[in-house]
Amino acid sequence: MQFPPGFLWGTATSAFQVEGAHDIDGRQPSIWDEFCDVPGAIEGGEDGRQGVDHYHRYREDVALMAGLGLNSYRFSVSWPRVMHGDRVNPAGMDFYSRLVDELLGAGIEPWLTLYHWDLPASLPGGWTNRDTAYRFADYTAALHDRLGDRVPTWTTLNEPWCSSFLSYAGGEHAPGHTDPVEAVRAMHHLLLGHGLALQALRAGGAERAGITLNFSPVLPASDDPADVDVTRRVDGTSNRVFVHPIFTGEYPPDVRADLDRWWDADLVAEGDLATISAPIDVLGLNYYATAMVRAGEPVEPWQVRGRDRWTPHIAAPDAEYVSRDLPRTAMDWEVEGDGLRRLLLWLHREYAGPAGVPLVVTENGAAYPDAEVGPDGVVRDLDRIGYLREHLAAVHAAIAEGADVRGYLEWSLLDNFEWAWGYDKKFGIVAVDAALNRIPKASAAWYGAVARRGGVEH
Ligand code: FCB
Repeated sequence: MQFPPGFLWGTATSAFQVEGAHDIDGRQPSIWDEFCDVPGAIEGGEDGRQGVDHYHRYREDVALMAGLGLNSYRFSVSWPRVMHGDRVNPAGMDFYSRLVDELLGAGIEPWLTLYHWDLPASLPGGWTNRDTAYRFADYTAALHDRLGDRVPTWTTLNEPWCSSFLSYAGGEHAPGHTDPVEAVRAMHHLLLGHGLALQALRAGGAERAGITLNFSPVLPASDDPADVDVTRRVDGTSNRVFVHPIFTGEYPPDVRADLDRWWDADLVAEGDLATISAPIDVLGLNYYATAMVRAGEPVEPWQVRGRDRWTPHIAAPDAEYVSRDLPRTAMDWEVEGDGLRRLLLWLHREYAGPAGVPLVVTENGAAYPDAEVGPDGVVRDLDRIGYLREHLAAVHAAIAEGADVRGYLEWSLLDNFEWAWGYDKKFGIVAVDAALNRIPKASAAWYGAVARRGGVEH
């Protein structure tokens, strides 16, 4: 399975999950720092602020990637590390400047995400406040000023579904609220922030700019109209409510109607949708799993938290997940690589293709209860290799069927702080032990060989 020349082979991480160093060089608290203090918010009560000390070990981490033969690296910048309100924090900026230089020196292309959930705690109302979108654009301009000459690809947001519905309605992510009205406000302000940040990037002459959305494809359990309709509503608020306005300049009418009960009349100002739908140069997509649903007994929207740990569906309180006979990861997510092939083809056909926008898989990977380090120093994570192989085959098949896919960034380089799950869920191709030593797993060697070859051997 050979991939096109120039294909990006890399891994992804995010600032809060790996950096640590939460209180040095002028870094200020983020909403995730605060969330880590909320009793019961994090499984096992672990303190995510420690990350895995990437802030001090970034040189070693870059050398690891270079040694594997990877040609790109997606990381995110911690907004409260680089900005103090509307002023730049030079010490924080310097860290990312050093990281970018280190990557370039190692022949690795930096791919920068501006927002991977660690919002400055000082912003009143977080994303429920329209002003946050404007502050996001200011931060974007300041960061691009400093790094724009060396970073080719800029992603505005990572997974706005998580920073709106999961955070403000599901209560699972910071700030841990369970209010559907807030979630809808956050959703719109995040999209507006994306559009305003895009303007700042264009003004600064950014080479390539886009957004990363997470897609959770959903299949109906039967052709019963009730199952088909609940599937439509889950798909609406999980997937289409983000991608549709970006490419078409309007919210999908059915989703707008489904969310009407929680949609403030003055939420969308004139011109917002034009800002949100300005052309992008690349669409990043994160894919982990496909799910099947059927219509069941409705719960009330304020009960969404108890419904399914990761999936508050305020417009589909009657959704019930149906288990399929498939292997599962440690997250309990079903493994079905073909879901990624179908997703890539759908995005290419409906949105990206007609707009001439290429796709990049900006996250895909799996958590497994890894075997211990063997006497030979190797972690034999064969199930992770199987997952990656199956999903790379899906990407390869989608390309063969016409989708314009330019890269694959595996989640994740390192075992790290997996948000509300704590450190227990391990996605890394490199293990991190209690002393913070990096121990490449069998999957790292396997993936490095794929990257060097530009393809997967059968
Ligand atoms: C995605 C996040 C990433 C990581 C993976 C497992 O939703 O973007 O930070 O948590 O899931």
